[in-house]
Amino acid sequence: MNIIPLPAAIEYHAGFFKSVGVPHIAGEERFAPEMRSFREQFAGEPVDTQTQIFCSTDASCAEREEYRLQIEPERITVSASCSDGLYHGLQTVRQLLLDGTALPCALIKDRPRFSWRGFMLDTARHFYTVPFIKKLLDSLSLHHINVFHWHLTDDQGWRLPVKAYPLLTEIGSRRLECRPVWGRYTGGFYSEEDIRSVLAFAASRHIEVVPEVDLPGHASAILASYPGLGCTGGPYRVEDRTGVFEDVLCAGTDAVFDLAAAVFDTITELFPSKYVHIGGDEVRFNRWEACPKCRQRLVATGLKSARELQSWMTVKLVEMLAQRGRTAIGWDEVLEDTEQFRLPHELIVMSWRGSEGGEQAARRGHKVIMAPSTKGSYLDYRHTEDPEEPGQLGITRVSQTYALDPCENMTTEAAAAVIGGQANLWSELIYAGKIAEYMIFPRICALAEAVWTERKDFTSFAERLPLHQSRLEKLHLVQYRGAL
Ligand code: ACM
Ligand code: ZN
Repeated sequence: MNIIPLPAAIEYHAGFFKSVGVPHIAGEERFAPEMRSFREQFAGEPVDTQTQIFCSTDASCAEREEYRLQIEPERITVSASCSDGLYHGLQTVRQLLLDGTALPCALIKDRPRFSWRGFMLDTARHFYTVPFIKKLLDSLSLHHINVFHWHLTDDQGWRLPVKAYPLLTEIGSRRLECRPVWGRYTGGFYSEEDIRSVLAFAASRHIEVVPEVDLPGHASAILASYPGLGCTGGPYRVEDRTGVFEDVLCAGTDAVFDLAAAVFDTITELFPSKYVHIGGDEVRFNRWEACPKCRQRLVATGLKSARELQSWMTVKLVEMLAQRGRTAIGWDEVLEDTEQFRLPHELIVMSWRGSEGGEQAARRGHKVIMAPSTKGSYLDYRHTEDPEEPGQLGITRVSQTYALDPCENMTTEAAAAVIGGQANLWSELIYAGKIAEYMIFPRICALAEAVWTERKDFTSFAERLPLHQSRLEKLHLVQYRGAL
């Protein structure tokens, strides 16, 4: 059946389920939203009222995301104890119906290895439209990806409206376009209505949306909007260059935390997720070292080096989120220079520079999400060495993404802290959704299987992939088709 990600168990039976068109879907009222999403996914296709998919409760599915799928000649039954599992079961059915052929009778029992199966889209370096994001979420959910990490701010753009700080979007959402269309501005931001509509759509696809606001580095868009929040006072600009910049939010300026409070209030009001990503990556310390306000902060906190101010800020931001009932996530740099200001244990660490950060965080009692750039998680890297391939910095082959094991080399104790893995698409070079699709597919299919199944087998994946890619083609997705 070439299902991706590979289900936990498939038992084939004699016979086939045949329909001419999409079977009629029915079932228990509690699963009405999932049935509605399924109908939406096949909107415009002829429905075969003679055949049926039935959605029912199966209390023997112990886990929230577990499902059971029975294919019999007369009907298909999807059952689960929770709506998450039921939705995943329907996505497996969707894969099979996209093939457009008879389905072999079978019993599938399925559930995930990890609870966090994420994808990050950088909507700051380039802006992506709401319809594109929805299309992407819909196709991610076909693979049981259940977290959308929405990178909303960076040096090159601020995309989140914050009522108390209107310049963040008035100034911070626009930058010079540095591609050869000289002199034009590019950008955009998501209105509250846009965000609510993405959130409602994501919920209908059983995807949790985790917003990221990158602090205190990657802050040029903030500084261009509110220059008083930097160490030097500027001048600053929303960056049109790529790279890592020296200007970061001033650790000695209390107003920085007023802004953070307003941003967190906005996020708490808009986003239902209990997680908020606070960034923390690639902070440069030169400005802090030279800044009188930052030096004063060093004295006041009893710290010795400017680098340690990041840990002081991280602790403050984590606490501010905790006061709002949210759990902070940070990139693995947040672990550094923390001898004086111990990080709260609730902070979740996202390991990106390799897996060492994640291993260390697990040893230190943090939950961990693995997104190592060195192990297949970075989808902004080129697919192969071929100079015709788009991408930057490195190479991520489909096979490398498939090989990602979030718990590799970990003790049983450390592995227990790993809640999952994810793939990231940074968008410095990816200026259109169609190019993004090419970078994402089929590497995200490999990632999805790596974090879902306990029965990883690359040869089997490579055999299942061509048929699966023809499904993705029916969803009008641009895909890489070369060597894996
Ligand atoms: C990162 O790639 N800077 C998290
Ligand atoms: Zn400063």
